[in-house]
Amino acid sequence: MSARNIIIAVDGPAASGKGTLSRRLATQYNLAYLDTGLIYRAVGRAVLDAGTNPGDAVAATKIAEAMQPDALERDGLRTEETGAAASEVAAVPGVRAALLDFQRRFAATPPGGKAGAVLDGRDIGTVICPDADLKLFLMASPEVRASRRASELRDRGEAAIYDAVLASLKARDERDSGRSEAPLLPADDAIRLDTDALDADAVFQIASELTAKIAEAADEAGRS
Ligand code: CDP
Repeated sequence: MSARNIIIAVDGPAASGKGTLSRRLATQYNLAYLDTGLIYRAVGRAVLDAGTNPGDAVAATKIAEAMQPDALERDGLRTEETGAAASEVAAVPGVRAALLDFQRRFAATPPGGKAGAVLDGRDIGTVICPDADLKLFLMASPEVRASRRASELRDRGEAAIYDAVLASLKARDERDSGRSEAPLLPADDAIRLDTDALDADAVFQIASELTAKIAEAADEAGRS
């Protein structure tokens, strides 16, 4: 019998380092990786492209219901404009409902014959995968996150003014934490990591030790 599928949930606010950590864990432990923020970004982008207001719940829900996986491959999903639209459409209950099954299916049957899945987002530990084997919640102050995001944007050749990035992050934090449906919240059993004083390697080290234990237990469960 092969090892049991393992699921790791990585949640946290914008630019808290979820993507960097999740990608590294996925590579190290042969897991499939799903950046769930990208799905909301794809819906937000499609809403903007259609000339619709991201606050229009009916239009955003229709677009989310028609979403195909290849929409995650398109350009322009990483911009600040798309991030802001993503956080608006993400507050619409119909949009979240339309995207639920895809995320759960990815976790339960990871593509590519992988040993499990890492999903990062805002509600993975609370709503999408409440039974995940490991739940991590990354935090960092808005100032640290804004400087990380500004240098990320500059590395991609986008103009980034620190003050504007900080203001946009704070607005997004407020919307993501204040919405009634699946707000940004650590699950009760999540391990919280404050990354203000931890670099990417230090965060990976901690998460990797936790994952190694889970992978080992899943392996043993598979053998017995
Ligand atoms: O990369 P960054 O952390 O800036 O954002 P993201 O993870 O790409 O997510 C973009 C937006 O999608 C967030 O501000 C949330 O409003 C929304 N989102 C969500 O509601 N639930 C998730 N599981 C993932 C993202």
